[in-house]
Amino acid sequence: MRTLSHHVKKARTRVSIPGPTSPNFPLVGYYPVLFKPLLQLFNELGAKYGEVFKFRLFNSEYIILNSFDAINEAYSQQSEKFSHRPTKFTFLKFAHKFLKGYSFTVGSDFKIQKRFFMQKLRAFTLKDPQFFTTIGNNCNFLLLYLDSKSAKPVDLRELFAWIAINSISHVLCSKYFELNDDRWKQLYQNANLFFASMPGIDQSIIGVQFRLFKAIFRSKSYRDLIKSSDFFYKTANEWVNEKLCNYNSSEINDYIDSFIHESLKDSHKTFNREQLIGNLIQFIIAGSDTTTNTMYFACYMLAKHPNIQAAMQKEIDEVVGNERFPTLEDRRVLIYTEAFFREIDRYYALAPISIIRVNSDEVMVQGFKIPKGCNFIANTNNCLRDSKYFKNPFEFDPDNFINSNGELINVQSFVPFGIGIRRCPGEMLAKIEIYLIISTIIQNFSLSLSTDENKEKEELKGLIKVLRPYKVIAKRRIKQR
Ligand code: HEM
Repeated sequence: MRTLSHHVKKARTRVSIPGPTSPNFPLVGYYPVLFKPLLQLFNELGAKYGEVFKFRLFNSEYIILNSFDAINEAYSQQSEKFSHRPTKFTFLKFAHKFLKGYSFTVGSDFKIQKRFFMQKLRAFTLKDPQFFTTIGNNCNFLLLYLDSKSAKPVDLRELFAWIAINSISHVLCSKYFELNDDRWKQLYQNANLFFASMPGIDQSIIGVQFRLFKAIFRSKSYRDLIKSSDFFYKTANEWVNEKLCNYNSSEINDYIDSFIHESLKDSHKTFNREQLIGNLIQFIIAGSDTTTNTMYFACYMLAKHPNIQAAMQKEIDEVVGNERFPTLEDRRVLIYTEAFFREIDRYYALAPISIIRVNSDEVMVQGFKIPKGCNFIANTNNCLRDSKYFKNPFEFDPDNFINSNGELINVQSFVPFGIGIRRCPGEMLAKIEIYLIISTIIQNFSLSLSTDENKEKEELKGLIKVLRPYKVIAKRRIKQR
């Protein structure tokens, strides 16, 4: 019996991962990667070579997982084996100030850090009334701001950024920045700079190695990357020093307090200063521009699709009324509204290509036996556009998440926050903010576009997609309370 299964397995093992062998230059490798938009290139190569293919760039090989089935088989079904990151000098160079942070931590240290962050995130959001008071105040401010504009066109990106920075700062260090405080703007602008200067989808390159090339010539994007990481390093150090000076074990108010508390227990060596600084930098960067742009995109789509907006308003009117703001409890019964937010995440596909992962062990993916230590890139954009899983994959349609009985459905390939062990740890925070802010706006105002120069065109900025600037007209629909 054993011999038989061994033979069946062997027969299924495919010889070697296909991929372009030309043009393949001695030093550069498959050079089209340097010049073509990655998503386009991946789809072209996918059509030719299938769901898993590879190419060489400089001195490294990259394996592309180009479909949900391949990504799921690797990152979800063999999750534990896919938590490592590249360790080559060239990759780490870009993260020189926060090498010890969350994204680069592996093995048991990563599991400990992940569990700890998720616990603290819950404690300082879901279980923290002050968090909801802050969001409520932000909503009030937003509504007053829109009233003050008397239906003149406004660009809401900066206000969304202010809200996003205040939410993540609440969790990390209990800071609240007033709108006219330059400190939140610096945080936001530097997060922006960081994302924009990261190698990624816009640079038409896997990037990391190419960036080293650019670093030699001190290119502007390389200098920007260093500038923003220096800024975050300095800021995170200031926050930690401040907290250490005022530390009181009976007043644990946020993530930094909790981390210091844990480090004093000496429970595990991973609770050290370098780890904390690295984590903080990554949480601020990953937690601000992402949520800001999703809120910005949601408002754009509401203004662009008045029928969808009206259906949401009708549902919110019926369930919530107009005497109070929507709450998290309402969300369970706001079926259409929930489908809308899922569709925003799906259609937008904010981070369409995952951060490079490395397998810590030998793996089998789609019949290919792959030795440990390979670089993997997942094209999650394709998961969110897969006609096998979505009835209307290329249109903006909340019904992608609603069945014929009007019930919400879970779609397996819906992975806008990534998949497996390295799935986004900030998903819960992002979802709470986006839902509370956008549903409150739509409860109180109707949105329209003055002109649509955007045509849903996103600028691709390093690792994430960013919508071009636009203005929205907000007309009051229910009276001010
Ligand atoms: C709408 C908002 C957001 C979206 C769509 C999003 C999406 C993603 C995606 C796709 C990844 C990559 C996962 C992978 O490689 O498989 C990721 C990673 C990450 N996200 Fe988010 N994210 C959002 C908000 C946030 C927030 C608010 C935080 C705040 C803590 C955050 C923190 C992180 C971190 C630290 C990582 C790296 C995880 C790791 O290396 O293990 N994200 N996110």
